[in-house]
Amino acid sequence: MRVLGIMGSPRIKGNTDLLLDEALKGAQSQGAEVEKIIVDRLKIAPCREYYGCLKDGNCVIRDDMDDIYPKLLEADGVIVASPMFFYGLTSQVKALIDRCQALWARKYILKQSPPDATRKGAFIAVGATKGQKLFDGSILTVKYFFQSIGVEYAAELLVRGVDKKGEIREHSTALLDAFELGRRLTQK
Ligand SMILES: Cc1cc2nc3c(=O)[nH]c(=O)nc-3n(C[C@H](O)[C@H](O)[C@H](O)COP(=O)(O)O)c2cc1C
Repeated sequence: MRVLGIMGSPRIKGNTDLLLDEALKGAQSQGAEVEKIIVDRLKIAPCREYYGCLKDGNCVIRDDMDDIYPKLLEADGVIVASPMFFYGLTSQVKALIDRCQALWARKYILKQSPPDATRKGAFIAVGATKGQKLFDGSILTVKYFFQSIGVEYAAELLVRGVDKKGEIREHSTALLDAFELGRRLTQK
């Protein structure tokens, strides 16, 4: 079992990073092999709508996405983790998702079925404010992303009211919840 964590915050050892680490530890505790991608360290251009992907399911842009596509398709579990930036995912992780239009094209245009329909995904998000709708838009984005790459939206951990770097450590339940989320993701 392989679990891929997509770390969408530019802040290393920030709240998202710490939550994702716990989730990956939870998966590891069940024997899963885990990998964390720090999106901010990669070169991922935004989608340019060249639409080469409509022909063969491959993006015509050559950059670090070349390595990400196979990882996304081979993982048994995928965790997207992002802080809320203006009520959305960070632009780093959104660029990665948008570039998966190529995988969307494979499924919906070229009618190629994704590798394994039992793959599970989870969404971890953190924001500073307490707004009721803080995560709504991002949940829709992540659900549609998972649908496009053949992953079921199986779990979410949404944490409000956390702002400063590492402040998540003071939260009474979030890190434990993240570990549990990762642990459960490995169960069929
Ligand atoms: C550019 C930017 C935009 C932000 N927008 C929001 C927002 O719309 N709502 C919110 O609750 N927090 C917002 N925040 C606060 C972050 O979500 C918060 O500090 C979070 O804990 C950062 O997580 P990290 O340490 O993983 O980067 C924003 C922060 C930045 C830098």
